[in-house]
Amino acid sequence: MIKPHGSNTLKPLLVKDAEENRALAAEAEKLPSLLLNSAAAANLVMLGGGYFTPLKGFMDLSDALAVAKTMHTADGLFWPVPVLNLTSDVRGIEGASRVALRDPNVAGHPVMAVMNVDKIEPVTDKQIETITRQVYGTVDPAHPGVAVFSKLGNYCVSGKVKVLNLSYFEKDFPDTFRTAVEIRREIEKRGWEKVVAFQTRNPMHLAHEELCRMAMERLGADGLVIHMLLGKLKEGDIPASVRDACIRKMVDVYFTEGTVMVNGYGFDMLYAGPREAVLHAIFRQNMGATHLIVGRDHAGVGNYYGPFDAQTIFEAAVPEGSLEIEIFAADNTAYSKKLKKVVMMREAPDHKPEDFVALSGTKVREMLGQGIAPPAEFSRPEVARILIDYYQLEDAPAAKRA
Ligand code: ADX
Repeated sequence: MIKPHGSNTLKPLLVKDAEENRALAAEAEKLPSLLLNSAAAANLVMLGGGYFTPLKGFMDLSDALAVAKTMHTADGLFWPVPVLNLTSDVRGIEGASRVALRDPNVAGHPVMAVMNVDKIEPVTDKQIETITRQVYGTVDPAHPGVAVFSKLGNYCVSGKVKVLNLSYFEKDFPDTFRTAVEIRREIEKRGWEKVVAFQTRNPMHLAHEELCRMAMERLGADGLVIHMLLGKLKEGDIPASVRDACIRKMVDVYFTEGTVMVNGYGFDMLYAGPREAVLHAIFRQNMGATHLIVGRDHAGVGNYYGPFDAQTIFEAAVPEGSLEIEIFAADNTAYSKKLKKVVMMREAPDHKPEDFVALSGTKVREMLGQGIAPPAEFSRPEVARILIDYYQLEDAPAAKRA
């Protein structure tokens, strides 16, 4: 099987041993606590599940600056996005060598992890701005990832962690949330060697489905892991439970049984485009995928990134040998009215724009909100049905925006 990133074995930081976990939880109740923000909690979920192998905890400021600038930690590990525990208030933990990290996303703020505090460092606004510009490619506060990152706080609390639980994900998504350890194990059990991963934060329409099929066929893959984001998204994005239902339906009806795993991971979307694509590649390698599909505007938002920046970064900025996973770089996919199937647009050079079925996200939301299914060339009817039901719920935030 493909090796984890920077290590021969996966390094999940979740304490599985029940006795050790109980002992740490008991100790944590007596330790000074830090209430995390959601971004730091999401990092813990990823560290806990082995997705962020070989990291052992939260980065310090020098690593964060080095990663942002060079995509390497100070001691040379290839890593594209700082893994930080930023906070605005350290009064409760000053001088402590061990602290309890508390979950902002679960009622009562239970302890998620115990941390050996290495450093508590002030971070200047200028440093935050530098990191933001390097990671997100912009400091525009209208960018949803920048808006979150720039307000996390001006203290960097770094050090090794032992993770006690994976927040709300196991309970809320029992069939879908899986750690890298579990996915790796399942891939091994199935005997898959060539494994394609599909990153998504959307319900899958026909173009996504066919993109996955094209990648599998062209690579001669044994299987596909549809790996959806289950953490926080910007307002107006569709909730994970709805996306999960759409994707499961599509897989049940349209894919050969036994060729697809539908799983998810507990991370908040960064919308960092190219840098996030590289992070995506690392954690898909860690879960055992040999290929990651990177299509148009991967992990992007608005017009902050060029449509294929998330592909070119792999050639332009990922040094040879840094990653074992490979990218399946895909062009825009759309339904061709002439060929009566979904194609990559560059593979139909004789087509004019009107030869493709093109619907904007806004148009699709409008149709769904009015109970109208998009055409079958755009969306599977079974998927459209689930989305129509969701958009017609009065409290659906995405519906309100439509
Ligand atoms: S993402 O933020 O998770 O990247 P999304 O779920 O929309 O958003 O996309 C999942 C993957 O499908 C990404 O690799 C993206 O580039 C790709 N993709 C989505 N739509 C298209 C399309 N029409 N053509 C080509 N690739 C696409």
